[in-house]
Amino acid sequence: MTYSRIAGTGSFLPEKVVTNHDLEKIVDTSDQWIQDRTGIKQRYIAGENETTGDLAEQAARRAMDAAGKGPRDIDLIVLATTTPDQIFPSTACLVQSRLDIHGCPAFDIQAVCTGFVYALAVADNFIRAGNATCALVIGAETFSKILNWKDRGTCVLFGDGAGAVVLEASEEPGILSTHLHADGDYANLLHVPDGVSRGYDQVQQERAFVEMRGNEVFKMAVNTLGRIVDETLEHNGLKKSDIDWLIPHQANFRIIRGIARKLQLPIERVVVTVAEHGNTSAASVPLAFDVAVRDGRIKRGETLLMEAFGGGFTWGSALVKY
Ligand code: ACO
Repeated sequence: MTYSRIAGTGSFLPEKVVTNHDLEKIVDTSDQWIQDRTGIKQRYIAGENETTGDLAEQAARRAMDAAGKGPRDIDLIVLATTTPDQIFPSTACLVQSRLDIHGCPAFDIQAVCTGFVYALAVADNFIRAGNATCALVIGAETFSKILNWKDRGTCVLFGDGAGAVVLEASEEPGILSTHLHADGDYANLLHVPDGVSRGYDQVQQERAFVEMRGNEVFKMAVNTLGRIVDETLEHNGLKKSDIDWLIPHQANFRIIRGIARKLQLPIERVVVTVAEHGNTSAASVPLAFDVAVRDGRIKRGETLLMEAFGGGFTWGSALVKY
């Protein structure tokens, strides 16, 4: 039986830091409000000419270095993003070329903030089925480019960044299980209403921006994440106490704390980067994962629960023996 295991992790953030105090100067908000409601203190924002592919490339290079893999070793690239460099080709193909990788399948996945969990599940299935042996799985976003910087309800929440893992075939299980869900009935809770086929808003002549019904997203997140934690534990015949680390989607500290409580996990066993990174959508889980691997908190052999929710509505989890 072939499984997949995580061979290395990497991440990358743009240089520019935007604090809550910086945002006070452009919208009617306060550091206190943002911290109380979300736990966010600052976020990293890509430069005007810096693309999702730029961030993804650097995160991928770091993950490949950590895994001791070169371009010839990679035989699959799956990149999760909501903010691709271009309409086409996929950002995965653009990154493939920059990494000097040739010939292997490369494609993007769109599940908004659940994108990395979806990408990990897809790559894991490719490897288990014998269709790949060493996959680069990337979550990368420049979400700042689809934010309306006049809308205080959304612009304070998000940031840019990228995270990546190298997943390789193994006789020992690394990815223990993945669980993916979606319900398109809730598409309007969190969306960019414009698009290629539907067209762009001709009246406002503005770029396409994120719109969100924050309160309803909050409730939906707590509900779906609660269910997926139970589903993941039951599927693996595990108890809450078997989880060493929770690596949640970094949208809001209140949601993260709620899931930690459900798992009866002390907050010290939860990787929390939302204060520094904000919500980086598909990059949030792999970014947090890489931070905790590199600072020595997460160790080989530990059991990790990754979970995420996002536009779609989508939600998912991965149980990982690191
Ligand atoms: N600064 C100051 N006041 C604000 C701000 C702001 N940035 N934004 C909203 N407010 C005001 C509102 O106008 C409202 O004022 P009112 O009472 O006078 O009408 C008041 O604050 C309360 O607003 P609520 O929306 O009820 O605040 P809530 O406690 O729900 O917090 C928040 C809002 C933080 C957005 C919360 O609902 C949340 O975190 N929801 C989940 C969002 C999320 O996770 N999104 C990412 C999904 S992942 C993806 O796929 C992209």
